[in-house]
Amino acid sequence: MIGGGLLTAADLRKGDAQMAHMPPMAAAPPVLDSEHLASFVDPLPIPAIAKPAGRRGKLPFYKIPIQEFFSKIHREVPPTRFRGYDNSMPGPTIEVRSGEEIVVEWPNQLPAKHFLPIDYNLMGAEKGRPESRTVVHLHGGRVPPASDGWPEDWYAPGKSATYHYPNEQDAALLWYHDHAMGINRLNVCAGMAGLYVIRDSFEDSLNLPKGDYETPLVLMDRMIRRDGQIYYPVTEFPDAPWNPEYFGNLVLVNGKVLPYLEVQPRKYRFRVLNASNGRFFFLSLDNDAPFRQIGTDQGLLPAPATVSRLAIAPGERADIVVDFAEHRGDRIVLKDITSTIMQFRVAGEPVEDPSALPQTLRPVQRIAEASAIQTRQLSLEEVDNPRGEPMIHLLDGKRWHEPVSEKPVLGTTEIWEFLNLTEDAHPIHLHLVRFQILDRRAFDVSDYIYENRKITYRGDAAPPDANEAGWKDTVRTTPMASTRIIVKFDGYPGRYVWHCHILEHEDNEMMRPYEIVAPARG
Ligand code: C2O
Ligand code: CU
Ligand code: CU
Repeated sequence: MIGGGLLTAADLRKGDAQMAHMPPMAAAPPVLDSEHLASFVDPLPIPAIAKPAGRRGKLPFYKIPIQEFFSKIHREVPPTRFRGYDNSMPGPTIEVRSGEEIVVEWPNQLPAKHFLPIDYNLMGAEKGRPESRTVVHLHGGRVPPASDGWPEDWYAPGKSATYHYPNEQDAALLWYHDHAMGINRLNVCAGMAGLYVIRDSFEDSLNLPKGDYETPLVLMDRMIRRDGQIYYPVTEFPDAPWNPEYFGNLVLVNGKVLPYLEVQPRKYRFRVLNASNGRFFFLSLDNDAPFRQIGTDQGLLPAPATVSRLAIAPGERADIVVDFAEHRGDRIVLKDITSTIMQFRVAGEPVEDPSALPQTLRPVQRIAEASAIQTRQLSLEEVDNPRGEPMIHLLDGKRWHEPVSEKPVLGTTEIWEFLNLTEDAHPIHLHLVRFQILDRRAFDVSDYIYENRKITYRGDAAPPDANEAGWKDTVRTTPMASTRIIVKFDGYPGRYVWHCHILEHEDNEMMRPYEIVAPARG
């Protein structure tokens, strides 16, 4: 179904049809289920705020090493091996003001051997490369190309990279994560992700809940073996272990399984990130209270949107406000369609709540379609082997190493129309830019495939939902439908990437370079 992006569970849950579609998988070792674990016994951890190590010239300078370490995901589970930033998972949160440039050095201090299964057939993951290579990308950052984390610019243990982040953009929740070609899914699954918050005076002026009343919720699903270690499933074929999707049966919130958070009966602001490899979450509260969504990937919405079931794909962020004032003494569970995520314990005594939830937030000027100088129609497709199992996923039929075909001119506006030929909702992300969603509309996939890219639309175009009507950097593309976005290519000339944020797809050809070219001089 097409409904401004809110897909039904059936659309997205990997049902039997999808499972039949999976390659034969090697038997998994016994893994933990939430039934094995006591619920809500660990408090929700809050990632530490990163502190500058000093100054580089005039600029705040951070040094965040990339390491392997152990961390407790649950009171009853032995420590889990992770790879991540500064010995923590998620990594430390970098917090900056809009316009305040910072410098971050990211030393690779990983041990040489990876603990998750590399598939050497994937582009960029060929044998002979250092297994523990990494490169950091700031997702949602308006960053010069040299600091963007080009996937092939990975570096080995003992090496380091120093990046500049200008932060010339609106207040928003960004996140940093690994982007190493061909092993990105394994590195992120191992724990390489952290938050990056940009604040500005406009946001300050709204008096939203802050300090102890503003809490990040980094969600990620994992398969965890009974011995507490991450399991990454592989096919039956030892030489070709890649599998098209990773779904875990445990959900970690800020690195804990089934945690609880004690809250006051007042408003809270939750900054939600879906950092999963492939899972879409459909979040709700078990008392059926709706969320008030105030922001999306690239910052505040024009007005709060009321959402009872919040869909959030890998890479997306949702900024929500929950008012616990009417729920004194209650225990409220945050859940997904199939899993329990965490519990809020609301204190019994009433408290003052000086914070606000304004009726209007940040104006978002709609970009006029007429301002686009061109529309690019770009297919999203899955290429299967003769057994009907996905082998690779492609953007516009092209592989990573083919010549750059998307070359927008700096400062111009374009419409990108994603034609999703598959039964999967691929979350498509463009580096550097922010964009707006225009619409989604079903079309006849077989006409497109068999009649030379003919587009026969079916039904009306649906505008984005109210909670998507802001600035985005990742968009859920509905299966067998067109999803159109409008983008102004502001920022810097140079090479960037666009890709599906299902990391198994991204690692296997569902990523393409694009290049912003400087305008011709008159
Ligand atoms: Cu979240 Cu190219 O990345
Ligand atoms: Cu990005
Ligand atoms: Cu995909």
